[in-house]
Amino acid sequence: MKKHKFRRETEAVRGTASLAKKNGPLATPIYQTSTFEVTDMQEQLRVTPTDSFYTRYGNPTNTVAENAIAQLEGTDAALLFSSGMAAITTSILSLVKAGDHIVAQRDIYGGVTKFLSQWLPKLGVETTFVDTNDIAQHERAIRPTTKLLHIESPTNPTVRVVDLEKIATLARKHNLISTIDSTFATPINCRPAEWGVDLVLHSGTKYFAGHSDLICGIATGRRDLIEQIHQTRTTLGCCLDPHAAFLLLRGIKTLAVRVERQNQSALRVAEFLSQHPKVARVHYPFLKDHPDYAIAKKQMAGAAGVLSFEVEGNGADACRVAEALNLFTLAPSLGGVDSLVTIPVITSHAMIAADLRQKMGVTDQMIRISVGLEHVDDLIADLDKGLAVLTGTRKEAVVAD
Ligand SMILES: Cc1ncc(COP(=O)(O)O)c(C=O)c1O
Repeated sequence: MKKHKFRRETEAVRGTASLAKKNGPLATPIYQTSTFEVTDMQEQLRVTPTDSFYTRYGNPTNTVAENAIAQLEGTDAALLFSSGMAAITTSILSLVKAGDHIVAQRDIYGGVTKFLSQWLPKLGVETTFVDTNDIAQHERAIRPTTKLLHIESPTNPTVRVVDLEKIATLARKHNLISTIDSTFATPINCRPAEWGVDLVLHSGTKYFAGHSDLICGIATGRRDLIEQIHQTRTTLGCCLDPHAAFLLLRGIKTLAVRVERQNQSALRVAEFLSQHPKVARVHYPFLKDHPDYAIAKKQMAGAAGVLSFEVEGNGADACRVAEALNLFTLAPSLGGVDSLVTIPVITSHAMIAADLRQKMGVTDQMIRISVGLEHVDDLIADLDKGLAVLTGTRKEAVVAD
């Protein structure tokens, strides 16, 4: 873990550029080019391992964003990818070979579950899925061939929080590489490298970009791992376009203020929902009755903007509530300035078999919301209005089931 010279808010804004006095643009220029011209062969050889050779290998705009992210996470280096899934799949592919085994938490993002359970077996890599915070179960699943311990914290959509210190210690004890999908946390709320995790992955599409206007992924961690992953990214070709990297940089500059506001607003929304008679259960780690409240308080500065809740009723009731909302736009994704609402069994977890969803705690009557930057009182009023569709209609909903 690297030392931080500045606080997170300062790093988010100024971590993207050199602080040396200079004459030149304040904003990072977009190197909108696929290739870089050289004057002679000696220069060609010199630039080949740099970010000024060919954009699939690297690009100066992307480098500025990558350095800013590594600084914020307190890691050696970072890499950008064309999506969060590209970051996760490319990183895992870099670190395993045929015959290797992975231990992964059960309730991770559906796309990653599909990659581990349906794609990696074709390449001879097996995964054992284990319960979120049952560390003994994680340890029992470890085999002589195990290479990776993969976790996600907080999880999507049940917002469970994994004890990072315990996971990192377990990985070190068995000489495994620990990887985490930290999309829901952001380095404003939690820096997994501080707890000893080797590789931190993100869907940068979410909080980092922050405006629901680009798709990107991030891998950041130990230099030796990042160098290995860089080679795979170059081969597979899932690099980020420099224009998207520029937009990402704009997002990073406001990451701290956005996330701090989202922490506050989402907690207020969670408290409101937990008092509502039509809400059976609220999942938010900074609520005292959340199963991981103590862990969340230990390792997170805030619980960010995503929470889920289960309505009193069935799946049809949850859909009616979601459709009745106005300030929460019906759309998948999260972490942006606009509040969004989605039904996990229809979107993020649609590809997961119903029995596995059950094990993950993803129910039909669950609604996931991402709290944006609108005024929290307006958001609460919208939810109150949306939940009112359930008043007096329970019988009808039950019959329709
Ligand atoms: C936790 C988590 N990880 C990874 C991803 C995949 O990211 P992307 O959509 O940028 O490929 C998502 C997308 O929703 C996610 O929620």
